[in-house]
Amino acid sequence: MKCCKRVISSKSQNILILFMLILICPAAWAAEDSADISTESAGPTSRIVGGKEAEKGAWPWMAAIVDADSTSNYDGQFCGAELIHPQWAITAAHCVDGELPQNIAVALGLHNLETDTGERVGVKRIIVHPDYNDRTDDVDIALLELDRSVEYETLSLYTGTDSLSGKTAVTIGWGSTDPVFKSYPEELRQVSVPVVSNTTCNAAFNAYASYYDDPITDNMMCAGFEEGGKDACQGDSGGPLIVAEDGQWQLAGVVSWGEGCAEPGIYGVYTRVSRFADFVAQYVPPAGDLNGNGYVGLEDVIGILRIVAEIRPRTTSATNCGDFDSDGDLTLADGIGILKLLTMP
Ligand code: ARG
Repeated sequence: MKCCKRVISSKSQNILILFMLILICPAAWAAEDSADISTESAGPTSRIVGGKEAEKGAWPWMAAIVDADSTSNYDGQFCGAELIHPQWAITAAHCVDGELPQNIAVALGLHNLETDTGERVGVKRIIVHPDYNDRTDDVDIALLELDRSVEYETLSLYTGTDSLSGKTAVTIGWGSTDPVFKSYPEELRQVSVPVVSNTTCNAAFNAYASYYDDPITDNMMCAGFEEGGKDACQGDSGGPLIVAEDGQWQLAGVVSWGEGCAEPGIYGVYTRVSRFADFVAQYVPPAGDLNGNGYVGLEDVIGILRIVAEIRPRTTSATNCGDFDSDGDLTLADGIGILKLLTMP
């Protein structure tokens, strides 16, 4: 098993697998457009700041971090997080630094924090990156090990070397919709923002206030519009900045900090996830290796099938449906899953 995870990926094989995928995931294919980023309304009534309500179920890996002692997810939510493995979530270090695992929980399957039940999962371990600097917000990244596996689609990380400048990205959260009079929505919201280069971002912050001297490190990235109006805000921290790469959404940034929200002339700052692939890999098993034993075996295949069976009726936009190991590629490992699915009674 160990030898074969990433082997065969000849073109014809991929085409065959793709054909099977269309057979098993027609809804996912049709729904691909619904997660599209162009349908945002602007104007004073739209929120995250300047965004729109997410489509229910569109971001199945989106989690809320809540106070364990709060029975209300709405009252208890204080940050976002992303499920990157059935038993691991990624968030901002500043969200969980100094917290005890037993005092927080990860809530999944939520759109409306007030009315949806979703499910709450305990946290077994909080891993704040050892280089996190709470003064400069450098290396603002942390991992949460859940106390059990959950069955939701996971988000894969953007691990490319591109700076992503100029790319449109989407940030998502339950954070404030109003930069001044903090107002927290019940529903999950999203907004599209272009990534700007670190050079542009540093120049903008340096010009904004004299206490800034190139605050944007290589471990950070920025996104937003020069004219302001669209941004993440308080309560969105730990949430995602996703980009569409190779036909799937990938996690490029984690909501980290800003000056106010959506102000003109400056940008929202995110942790640059591609810098932390090694940190993540140190703790989080490869996507298909659900039981973390170091290889993708039969037990994992069964687990994957269980997840797919769970997800399919619930998801409106399984854009990476069939890419079971979330490596961005349809390989033999995915094919085994598809074949098993197709031969189920
Ligand atoms: N630090 C904030 C939080 O804890 C998020 C700030 C993001 N701000 C921004 N303007 N993009 O929720």
